[in-house]
Order: sequence, then C-alpha cells, then structure tokens
Amino acid sequence: MGFPIMSPKEAAAMINNGDNLGFSGFTASGSPKVVPEALAERAEKEHEAGRPFKVNIFTGASTNNWADGALARANAIGIRTPYQNTPDLRKRINSHDAHYFDLHLSELAQKFRYGTYGELDYAIIEVAEVFDNGEVILGTGVGNVPTYVAHAKKVILELNAKLPKDMYGLHDIYMPLDPPHRREIPIYKPLDRIGSPVVKIDPSKIAAVVHSDRFDGIKGFSELDDTTLQIGANVCGFLIGELRKGRIPKGFLPIQSGVGNVANAVLFGLGDSNEIPQFEMYTEVVQDAVIELMKMGKCKGGSTCSLTLSDKAESEVLKNLDFFRDKLVLRPAEISNNPEVIRRLGVIAMNTALEADIFGNINSTHVVGTRMMNGIGGSGDFTRNGYLSIFSCPSVTKGGLISNIVPMASHIDHTEHSVDIIITDQGVADLRGKDPVQRAETIIENCANPIYRPLLREYLALGKGGQTPHTLEASLAFHTAFKATGDMRNVDWSAYGF
Ligand code: COA
Repeated sequence: MGFPIMSPKEAAAMINNGDNLGFSGFTASGSPKVVPEALAERAEKEHEAGRPFKVNIFTGASTNNWADGALARANAIGIRTPYQNTPDLRKRINSHDAHYFDLHLSELAQKFRYGTYGELDYAIIEVAEVFDNGEVILGTGVGNVPTYVAHAKKVILELNAKLPKDMYGLHDIYMPLDPPHRREIPIYKPLDRIGSPVVKIDPSKIAAVVHSDRFDGIKGFSELDDTTLQIGANVCGFLIGELRKGRIPKGFLPIQSGVGNVANAVLFGLGDSNEIPQFEMYTEVVQDAVIELMKMGKCKGGSTCSLTLSDKAESEVLKNLDFFRDKLVLRPAEISNNPEVIRRLGVIAMNTALEADIFGNINSTHVVGTRMMNGIGGSGDFTRNGYLSIFSCPSVTKGGLISNIVPMASHIDHTEHSVDIIITDQGVADLRGKDPVQRAETIIENCANPIYRPLLREYLALGKGGQTPHTLEASLAFHTAFKATGDMRNVDWSAYGF
C-alpha cells in the first residue's frame, strides 16, 4: 500500500482549528474511532495552552463515545449536524457550546453537493480494506461517505483490523445525479443492488492510513419491561388487523423500524406472530433483533445504512458473512432514507415519539419543548413518505410524572398530516380519515394513560370552536405544571381563568 501510514496522533496533528470534517458511519457503526479520540486529546492540550480549537463535524447520524463523546468533553465541536445521541454532546448543544442544527438524514449529502455548507477539509473514514487505486471497502455503516470523500480536500482512512476483508459485496454505493439531471433511483425491491461494492477515492487525496482495532462499542438492549412488551404487542396486533382487512397486501410490505427498546420489542413481536408472513426491511438501522429474525427465517433481508449491532452480534455477523451476504445491503443515507424509494416500496414506518398531542402531532426531539434530546434522525424521511406511518411511546414516563399524550406538543417534528397511527401501552389510535376532534377523542380514550384521561378530556371540553379547538392560553398547561411542580397531574385550569 503506497499511502502514508500514521499514528492517530500524527493524523490528528494535520487538522486545524475551524476545519470542516466529514465522518464515516451511521450511528456508532462505521464511525471513526482512534483519530477523533486523538483529536480530542489535541484539543485539550490546545485549550490548556490558551489557544482556541474547535472543528465542525458532519456525520451520517450519531457517532460514538470516542468521536462525539470525547470531542464534546474536550469542548472541541463547533458546528455539528445531523443527528447525535451522546450525553456529553447533548449537554454542549443545550448550553450552546456546540452549534447543532438538526436535519433529515436523507438531505445532508445533497446539501453538501449543492454547496450549502462549504468545503470539507478532511473526510475521516473507517474502512475494512484500502486498495492502491484508492478504492475502499467500508465497514458497518455508510452514512454520507461517497459525498464526503468526493468533496473533501484530503482523506484520512482508519483501517480497522476488526473488519474482515470479505465484507466485500455487502455495500451498494450509489450517488444520484443532482438536479436538473437526476433520474429515478432504480430500486424496485428492498434488496436490489444498483451501485458499486466499493467507494472510489482519488488516491492523491489520501493523506494518511491509520490502523485501529475496535468493534463499534454498542451495548446490547436492556431486558424488555411490561410496558415495552405491551407496546410491541399492540403494534403487532394492529398490523395483523390490517393484514386481515386486506389493507396490507398478503405478502406484507417492507418495514422500517427505529432503534431502541420499543423498536426491539416490536420486531420480536413480529417474529413471534404466526400471522405475519416473512418480510423484508427497508430501513436505516439493522439492530440485534433483525439478525435474530434473519436466523429464524422470518426476515428475508434488509436494506439499511448501518449494522447497529451490539459488539456480540457484530462479531457474529462478521464471522458468518456467507450466511448474511445476500440478506443485507448497506447503502448511503441518501438512498437508505430516500423519499422517492420509500414511497415507491410502500414502507411501513415505525418510529418512537417523546410525546404526541391529542390532535396527532409528534415531538421526537425536544424535552419539554426546549432541551434537544437526539435529533429527528431518519424519522421524518420515513414518516412523511411511508405507506403507513406509526408512532409509538409509553403512555407515561418517569413513573407517571409525565404524560406522553399532551394537549399540544411542546415542539413539533411530525405534523398531523404525516402521522397515521399512534400506539402506546394502552392501545392503538387509528387517525386515518378522522377530523381533529375525532382524532383527539380516539387518542385520549385509546392511548392516554387512565391517570391523565380526565385532564385531557377537560382540556378538549375547554375548546370554543374552530376545526382544531385548542385553548391557546392553556395549551401548554401540562408542561407548565411539570416545570412548576415536577408532576403534570398538577394542572390547575383556574390558573388560566377556567
Ligand atoms: N418528556 C420528557 N422526557 C421524556 C419524555 C417526555 N415526553 N418521554 C421520554 N422522556 C425521557 C425518558 O424518561 C428517558 O429519560 P432517561 O434517559 O432519563 O431515562 C429519555 O427521554 C428516553 O426515553 P425512552 O423512553 O428511553 O425512549 P427511547 O430510548 O426509545 O428514545 C426517542 C425515544 C424519541 C428519544 C428516540 O427514539 C429518538 O431519538 N427518536 C428520534 C430519531 C428517530 O426517530 N430516528 C429514526 C429511527 S432510528
């Protein structure tokens, strides 16, 4: 290999204060590990010496504790987009130390190509293999790598010894032409391959190859509790009902499922059901449950942007690539999350909400309207374009101090126009074909927790007309009560003159 081999520290030393960096990967999967960690150490030393040092970071989605985590702890992140989920970065975002803007994941690559965010100084890319002609085999996550390497002045590769060379063939790298030349993206079935198994990088741009030897560091999921299991059962019951009514075709439709415990419970529920046929996924993350479903033969295969697997499951997949190779296609985020393809395939989109309001609007991102949690991720890409768009969440959080069904969402990521179904541990609200008041009645009676139903009914009864009968001065009364007393149940309508 004719490229310069460097230590993480030497590679990090090439990066300057204020540089724009593009990271590989999507979730912790495929994100760079040792160079960001060394960069964070360098930033700390620069700060100790009284010099400013921050970099702007563009990723595929969230990264890992060595990248977002370490760089946030070092207060070394200037601009950051699109999705994140590390507690240290969350703190920096909410204190405005890091300037985070939240974006639909499918949009970032093309916005870069359109020149919206300027140039990238370095792309830092994890790879399983690099060839002398500059072609690379990527790892467990693709994200925006094809665009980042094309638009970066220089590329630093992290060659990870944990990734076997026979990952060759898992990836399908395709970059669409930009308007006005764009054509249809020719994916007609979830597992269709339309691109190249490798990413081609101009060899003259490869400034360093750095060796690493780490799994992605993703923890397994916690034991499913009763609430999560009930939500999973309610989602499955709903899908079976739709199948019986013929509203989902007999052969089923591709599934998108978010990441997390609820998503895990839903997937296991689908696996346990005799009535749900074998299915395929068109999704952005494949997590442990999907691997189990593939081994059982329930999931025929999945198109994804990443293998977001615990270290144990990652190791199992990488050791058994002959079994998984024809069942997995790893695509760039702008293709895995592409609105055109999602609409064409008829994807059943299943995502998680922080809170839903009684008229069907969803808050996925902001705790009590102000504090950024993670970001919208791909939930908007799938929700807006899905055949069926489902949101689930527990009916209450923090032992009942918070109702996840509120009069008005304190921040709105997905509007009533895009949300078909809301599901909690209490039941299912089918919002299709209902006007706002009918939606409110269904959500309150089927999804709200019984301890909050009377308050929500009272709120609806306050309405004095209009198609969506909000009482604006009292619409955030649940959140106000929570901020004042730590318990949403302490709503006092008389404080609003009622
Ligand atoms: N108000 C305040 N806090 C709330 C809340 C609400 N309405 N609902 C949940 N929370 C808190 C929980 O108590 C928990 O806090 P903790 O960390 O202190 O325990 C935290 O938020 C996470 O809640 P949890 O129930 O564990 O949810 P989750 O892990 O399933 O995540 C989202 C839920 C919405 C944060 C997550 O799905 C997300 O980031 N979604 C947006 C991105 C997305 O959908 N991408 C597409 C698919 S990958």
